[in-house]
Amino acid sequence: MIGYMGSGKTSLGKKLSYKERIALLDTDRMIEQKQGMTVSEIFEKKGEGAFRIMETECLKEILGYSEKYIISAGGGLPIKEENRELLKELGTVVYLRAKPDTIYARLKNDTSRPLLRGDDPRGKIEDMIGKRGPVYELAADCIIDVDEKGCEVIIGEISEALKHDSRVK
Ligand code: S3P
Repeated sequence: MIGYMGSGKTSLGKKLSYKERIALLDTDRMIEQKQGMTVSEIFEKKGEGAFRIMETECLKEILGYSEKYIISAGGGLPIKEENRELLKELGTVVYLRAKPDTIYARLKNDTSRPLLRGDDPRGKIEDMIGKRGPVYELAADCIIDVDEKGCEVIIGEISEALKHDSRVK
């Protein structure tokens, strides 16, 4: 699952994981575990560039796993072409598409996203979604609009989309 921060990748991933009985991997959490630091600390101490390299390494590691997984990918991960190719290799890419207003309402009090710190988080979200949206669409096999929908409806739509994907066994 890909999408902007706050689009629901992790929370929906947990619910989908439970429903489908497939384990969930979260690239941010994998990186945090390996580094022994939070994503915010990695950005502060090592910089965003180093974090982006870690994301690619993380996808390569998952590619070596033999089990089937649901993956919640960090919001910036699909921006790198190499990562989009790795995602395609890994399986079906579901884009959870959310409008800037939805994201802002969910993240306005969040302090864990280093990229949203600063004076105008609402403007930043709009600007980043404007730029990233087309890239997410390019990376996706399936797009699910998540605004104003409950979890169960979204989970149902994801499960339905996966049923029709010939690569999902
Ligand atoms: C980022 C999204 C975050 C995390 C990091 C950078 C981004 O993941 O990887 O803060 O560039 O959009 P979530 O989408 O899980 O919040």
